[in-house]
Amino acid sequence: MTVYNFSAGPAVLPKPVLEKVQAELLNYQSCGCSVLEMSHRSPEFEGILNKAEQDFRKILSIPSDYAVLFMQGGCSTQFSAVVYNLVVDLDKPVDYIVTGAWSKKAKEEAARLGLKVNATTKEALEFSKDPSFIYYCDNETVHGVEMPVDFVDKLPKNIPIVCDMSSNFMSRPFDVTKYSVIIGGAQKNIGPAGLTLVIVKKDLLGKFAQCPLKGPLMLDYKLMADQGSMYNTPPTFAIYVSGLCFEWVLAIGGIEKIAALNKAKSQVLYEGLQKYPSVFSFPVEEAYRSRMNVPFRILKDGKPNEELEKDFIKGAEKLGMICLAGHRSVGGIRASLYNALPIEAVEFLVQYAHSFALKQ
Ligand SMILES: Cc1ncc(COP(=O)(O)O)c(C=O)c1O
Repeated sequence: MTVYNFSAGPAVLPKPVLEKVQAELLNYQSCGCSVLEMSHRSPEFEGILNKAEQDFRKILSIPSDYAVLFMQGGCSTQFSAVVYNLVVDLDKPVDYIVTGAWSKKAKEEAARLGLKVNATTKEALEFSKDPSFIYYCDNETVHGVEMPVDFVDKLPKNIPIVCDMSSNFMSRPFDVTKYSVIIGGAQKNIGPAGLTLVIVKKDLLGKFAQCPLKGPLMLDYKLMADQGSMYNTPPTFAIYVSGLCFEWVLAIGGIEKIAALNKAKSQVLYEGLQKYPSVFSFPVEEAYRSRMNVPFRILKDGKPNEELEKDFIKGAEKLGMICLAGHRSVGGIRASLYNALPIEAVEFLVQYAHSFALKQ
């Protein structure tokens, strides 16, 4: 049975990538050992890291005045890293656009560090007079809220913009130059868990040393940039597999192609479920519905029904469609449609949803 993995992360990886990992696992390019065993200072690993960075830059058209950092600690660690690296005056506020669970957590971390935090919404967009930065999450993984790609244009131009792209990184083209810092865990749309990607405008490097809060050295973007992400032992295997994922994206046609596939997949799902408005409902208003994480509820007599949702998930599992349960904080169903999920998986899910709806 083919298994289709709708997990929100760690998530499905491209099959050709897994096959390559398998083929190279014991003896990487005839060097006699596995990437798992390799020194991060070896020429082989340096080659892997450099190629991964080059390909990532190529996919997202990252200009040379931006550094790409391969870090650890997940995106949760970046919630404090952005503070240490951008704040030099604790009296200045920091502004957070709260759109769901992850931007809320990021905001709470800044408050925990003692910052003056101003929270606003995507509708109000009420900003402080002179904040150290404005922060938002491009795609809320739990709530399925994705910002339109031009959302960034609604924000003030002269304030550093920080964006969490954990769950829609590399899913569509966007203009890197509109941001100061972009952060994201790899384990959703890029590669395996253990690697955290940071894109940072080089002219911002160095503020870590001026921040009155003394963060761990490991979170200093300048140090990481100066050391080529090799200040300490990087997550070598996760970088290697992510590098293969970058090669895969380029081989299938790059970011435009990936974006077209992602749009097609989410359209198939939303349109397929919309045919049964008395059975399936979407919690998110249409303009902000995510292409990556599609949450929906199953209704009985017009109300979400947990029993029916359990049946739906169980029935899907029997057919090989796994990890469809919504996040434990919100319940319902959530289908994550990351880059590596084939469109056949979505078509199969829609076909199943169709037969499920007809039985209600
Ligand atoms: C949008 C978003 N931001 C941040 C995080 C936290 O990332 P990590 O688990 O890598 O710390 C997640 C994790 O699911 C996420 O989806």
